[in-house]
Amino acid sequence: MHRTTWVEFNRCALRHNAKTVRRLAPNAAILAMVKANGYGHGADWVAEHLNDIVDGFAVARLNEAMLLRKQLSDKRIVLLGTEHDAISLNECALHQLDVVIHDLQTATLLASIKLPQAITVWLKLNTGMNRLGMSEPEFIDAHQLLKQSPNVATLHHMSHFSDAETTDKTRSIEQYQCLHTLSHSLGETPISMANSAAIISFPQSHLNWVRPGIMLYGDDPTNTLNEGDLQAAMTFKAKVLAVRDLAAGDGVGYNRRWQSASTSRIATVAAGYADGYPRQAPDGTPVLINGKRAALAGRVSMDLLTVDVTGLEINAGDTATLWGDNLSAAEVAQHCGTISYELFTRITQRVERVY
Ligand SMILES: Cc1ncc(COP(=O)(O)O)c(C=O)c1O
Repeated sequence: MHRTTWVEFNRCALRHNAKTVRRLAPNAAILAMVKANGYGHGADWVAEHLNDIVDGFAVARLNEAMLLRKQLSDKRIVLLGTEHDAISLNECALHQLDVVIHDLQTATLLASIKLPQAITVWLKLNTGMNRLGMSEPEFIDAHQLLKQSPNVATLHHMSHFSDAETTDKTRSIEQYQCLHTLSHSLGETPISMANSAAIISFPQSHLNWVRPGIMLYGDDPTNTLNEGDLQAAMTFKAKVLAVRDLAAGDGVGYNRRWQSASTSRIATVAAGYADGYPRQAPDGTPVLINGKRAALAGRVSMDLLTVDVTGLEINAGDTATLWGDNLSAAEVAQHCGTISYELFTRITQRVERVY
């Protein structure tokens, strides 16, 4: 099959990364984050290949959860913090979806209706992220209210770290203690807090359920794991369409942002911002061509980007790697002022997926 712009997904890497989670958190159950279409990897593909390793999957929208339920008839699926009314709670019960409840209003609503069957509820405490989650008094009220409710099969307690990837653990320890102490004061309830960074760098926070996202896809947000502990599950590739020699002073691309200081050679690659390559990528952002490192030169356009390949043996028809194997998405993201999460979830529809 002829391809110009495609993304390759590596099942072995995905499974290897999940086993790394298992090794780092041997006593915790694993709730794999597959929101945003499995961080851009295909939630169905991730679910298929991790089903035998992990204990459940989590998504952020009801439609994502329903799709996943069609694929996995009896796996735990958790719907993260979202808006609920009586109809959506009813849908969750009908499809056996666990719900995260992050405000007292929704807890009160859940206690006041009659669901067709009881559901598992994850009560979310705000421990300093100040995004979603209840204050301590609200959390206690919600716990007392739902502990009694026939709509609730099991209660879980959870919170989310705001700074887990930083080396200074002061904030994370405070957040952990806040959830841990409050949860224990309310009795024996399964607790969940750790995202990837905490799984890697804060073992005490693993508790009953860990919630890995980005590390399943190969990125270490703490930059502390050994090489090989995580492997890229996604590699974004494109063909070189043209190679040309430039004289000193020639410019490249829109507004000729990059200018040749001396004679140079430019490769034009079949990937642009309409494929999900970030338009804000500056000159110097690394690109691999035929496995050799080269640097972006000139503004990224809709369908194309240009790379300074001076001194390299590169021809039209060669393959460029934009991120993935041997070039981490985190490194590319850092050049672009973003994070690998955004790169992964922004690959667009027209890019061919190769599984
Ligand atoms: C509630 C919650 N838990 C866990 C995660 C996983 O985080 P990470 O991808 O950093 O592991 C996320 C992702 O944003 C999240 O929103």
